[in-house]
Amino acid sequence: MEITREATDEELVEKTVSGTVIRTVNLKIRRYNPEVDEEPHWETYEVPVTPGDRLLNSLGHVKGYIDGTLTFRRSCAHGICGSDAMRINGVNRLACKVLLKDLLTRDGEEVTIEPIKGLPVLKDLIVDMEPFFAAYRAVKPFLIAYGNEPTKERLQSAEDRARFDDTTKCILCAACTSSCPVFWNDGEYFGPAAIVNAHRFIFDSRDQGSEERLEILNDAEGVWRCRTTFNCTDACPRGIEVTKAIQEVKRALLFRRV
Ligand code: SF4
Ligand code: FES
Repeated sequence: MEITREATDEELVEKTVSGTVIRTVNLKIRRYNPEVDEEPHWETYEVPVTPGDRLLNSLGHVKGYIDGTLTFRRSCAHGICGSDAMRINGVNRLACKVLLKDLLTRDGEEVTIEPIKGLPVLKDLIVDMEPFFAAYRAVKPFLIAYGNEPTKERLQSAEDRARFDDTTKCILCAACTSSCPVFWNDGEYFGPAAIVNAHRFIFDSRDQGSEERLEILNDAEGVWRCRTTFNCTDACPRGIEVTKAIQEVKRALLFRRV
């Protein structure tokens, strides 16, 4: 596919190049450099896009061709590493999974891009993830097994494996936790992602640490803070039924039957 640079010279163009429509789009990005800025501010960049471009491509265009100081996290570019969660047109998404054409309903429209909410902004679109990972570590997201080392692998039926299949898909992107109003207002709340990762082991038939995890989540900042707003489920790029997982942990706590 051939892409011509002339497309960037017009305010808004639709141009056919080898059958591909190219247009320019304005990205309005919340910028903050703690070394020079007292407050965050918005800057707008005009970038050329083709129908197949994802937002991450366009952020790369800004950084590569317009302003090299723009700072954001990314790694895999394929929705697996979870490093590029950001607030896109007011909704948490992974920049590498969002097609620009899906964000634009009419010519000349802007796309707004901000860091995810509820975590301290370090620079531009990068937040400090440590509070998020501290909550994750607190729920002991690993298999706990007591007694002697087994002499063979721990077997599990397909039905038992299916019990927690959904929550194994988490990539720790924080899109859910940082879309939760309870988390915004109370940074102490464990948040949906930590509960999802607790769920993954609480319902694992091979695990013996469920009681410990349930006690941790029974805390004042634990699972009972959830107000079932479903923001987390809507935000999850892996399609995990986050609210349902939280409800299952609540039920397990009520009935202590896992
Ligand atoms: S549950 Fe979904 S949104 Fe939340 S951290 Fe895991 S992958 Fe991201
Ligand atoms: S860059 Fe890895 S999930 Fe988007």
